[in-house]
Amino acid sequence: MQVTSTEFIKSAFAEIDWPGDSKSEIAFLGRSNVGKSSLINSLLGVRGLARTSSTPGRTRALNFYLINGKFRFVDLPGYGYARAPKTMKAEWGAAAESYLAKREQLVLSIHIVDSRHGPSKQDLQLHEWLEHKQKPHLIIATKSDKLSNNELRKNIVAIERALNTDHVLVYSANTMRGRNEVWSAIEKCLKS
Ligand code: GTP
Ligand code: MG
Repeated sequence: MQVTSTEFIKSAFAEIDWPGDSKSEIAFLGRSNVGKSSLINSLLGVRGLARTSSTPGRTRALNFYLINGKFRFVDLPGYGYARAPKTMKAEWGAAAESYLAKREQLVLSIHIVDSRHGPSKQDLQLHEWLEHKQKPHLIIATKSDKLSNNELRKNIVAIERALNTDHVLVYSANTMRGRNEVWSAIEKCLKS
């Protein structure tokens, strides 16, 4: 995919703020601080379009980005930020959940996990839900640059086992490892 234009459209806190047209959407989900925004920026080859932060839990709304004037990336709030107040946790969860359940424009959900760790309880729940609802999804293990080849191989096997799949894509926002594979998966879903 040649990225010719990227544009931040809006942060949506409520359903009424979701874009109204029928353009296809790719959603990015995963635990807080796992690297969702970095993945978006590295795929698009732009710095700072999606806000990244070393403070977890920064992305609270659904953030919509228009790519090549044709389709959208949606950066969903991260789950599992332990220090967030309970009411906020409930709100973020509800916003992401209703988006995933209802959104007709959604053609692919990209579930991002940390290649250094086994999937959390919430990762397992999200995965089961996506499978159960038969939502097209892709699992990406990011931050692979932080591991040796040996550790990485071992961890990917463990993640695949935990999620009962043999399709975990290895990624790094720092080295761009896996970038072409992710784009191929996205392009396939945009065509079908
Ligand atoms: P929230 O929006 O807060 O849920 O976080 P997020 O999932 O969007 O994570 P974000 O992209 O902001 O990244 C969190 C931290 O991890 C930042 O300090 C990034 O620089 C770092 N990071 C993200 N991806 C990678 C990667 O592939 N390799 C390395 N080494 N660091 C990464
Ligand atoms: Mg983010």
